[in-house]
Amino acid sequence: MSGRGLFINMEGGEGVGKSTNLGFLENFLRGNGVDVVVTREPGGTRLGEDIRDLLLQLREEPVDPTAELLLIFAARAQHIAELIEPALAAGKWVLSDRFTDATYAYQCGGRGVKRETVAQLEALVQGALRPDFTLLLDAPVSIGMRRAQKRGDLDRFEQETLAFFERVRSAYLRQAEVHGDRYRVIDASQSLVIVQQALAKVGTELLSKQIHRSAQS
Ligand code: TMP
Repeated sequence: MSGRGLFINMEGGEGVGKSTNLGFLENFLRGNGVDVVVTREPGGTRLGEDIRDLLLQLREEPVDPTAELLLIFAARAQHIAELIEPALAAGKWVLSDRFTDATYAYQCGGRGVKRETVAQLEALVQGALRPDFTLLLDAPVSIGMRRAQKRGDLDRFEQETLAFFERVRSAYLRQAEVHGDRYRVIDASQSLVIVQQALAKVGTELLSKQIHRSAQS
């Protein structure tokens, strides 16, 4: 495939099945001949993974929301420079487990950071870079939290309250409304088979989008 690759992010609250479904979409795309780089946020680079550890570890002192926000964008800046931009420029597709939509959901929705603050950092760190396509796996908070708790030790985010995750979910759904052109919301409370049928449909849509784009370039 010629031209710039597509940038796709997968989003959702805790325990909505992101990892399993990301793997499914990755296999679907690879099976259709797409050269796809799978990555995640916070993380994706060595520096980013170190910052991820700092963000997720339990701490005795409360973490200031602005400190948390800046760490997230520091990891993102490195991720873009080292991995995302070079991959897209080389025509590869990038499939990221979370991106800035998570910041609007968790830091704005969850922590109460102003959307304008995130928008300013987004402009500074990303320039014009935005995902071409965003998949939101949406499920009632109680279902997701039950699944996350079964996984064992909870990280600093997973330890948050039900009310926090309700705000995260609402903020995601708001993002999906504001950016309806690039968002697809999938009901992740359905069975895995049904969720993956929906994902395969989205995958097909993405392939035709790329063919259309290549034809134009
Ligand atoms: P996870 O993606 O493995 O669930 O863990 C990453 C955690 O980081 C998750 O709880 C959400 C949080 N996070 C933010 O709070 N803001 C962000 O911008 C990103 C990318 C993740």
